[in-house]
Amino acid sequence: MLIAGNWKMFKTPSEASAFCRALRESIGDIEGVDVAVCPPYVSLANAIEELKGSEISVYAQNVHWAENGAFTGEISTAMLKDLGADGSIVGHSERRQFFGETDLDVAKRAKATIDAGLKVIACVGELESERDANQTEAVLARQMAPIVKEIGAHERLVIAYEPVWAIGTGKTATPAQAEEAHAFIRGLLDVPILYGGSVKADNAAELMSQPNVNGALVGGASLDVGSFVALCAASAVGA
Ligand code: PGA
Repeated sequence: MLIAGNWKMFKTPSEASAFCRALRESIGDIEGVDVAVCPPYVSLANAIEELKGSEISVYAQNVHWAENGAFTGEISTAMLKDLGADGSIVGHSERRQFFGETDLDVAKRAKATIDAGLKVIACVGELESERDANQTEAVLARQMAPIVKEIGAHERLVIAYEPVWAIGTGKTATPAQAEEAHAFIRGLLDVPILYGGSVKADNAAELMSQPNVNGALVGGASLDVGSFVALCAASAVGA
């Protein structure tokens, strides 16, 4: 089971150092749970430095597919590797919604990251309007198609199912809704599948105990050391 904290655009480099120092001291060894943090680019080096030699992994929140080139504002896989990052999230719904990323862009980012020997958490998930229109499976199939085609079932690939209506809203998918979507995704690609969307310490155990839920991608509840450690510990119950 993997519990990954997606910090989004929170935590400066010095805040990241303080957080990671405290996380390392308080996390202990939670049986069956791998822990990762995903700081913004400028705070990656601090997180990596503080967590060196620990079991906690560090992922970026995005990465470009080209080796290098005229891509202002982008970061390459070689840069992440050189820094000592373990991998990257790709295709988060905020990237898709606010920065125009397409399903193909996401698959290209994921493929380049895998090819560089890094790990990937590739995100998929439907909008509320799509769920209401019974389009959830069609949307997931469309988003997954280029990932399945470009990469397939790879040992360094993890999918995160994040229904957009559940992200940062406090409206968590029910364990049954999560399980249904995860089972559908697993039918397309048999890799670990994380659930994301308002996961907290008090709903983690039930979500994580679903047979096709293999971990969580956590936003808000990952920003405070105490709540993140509590969430990781609660997830162990479902591991
Ligand atoms: P949330 O975010 O836990 O704050 O809902 C999850 C995510 O966007 O990865």
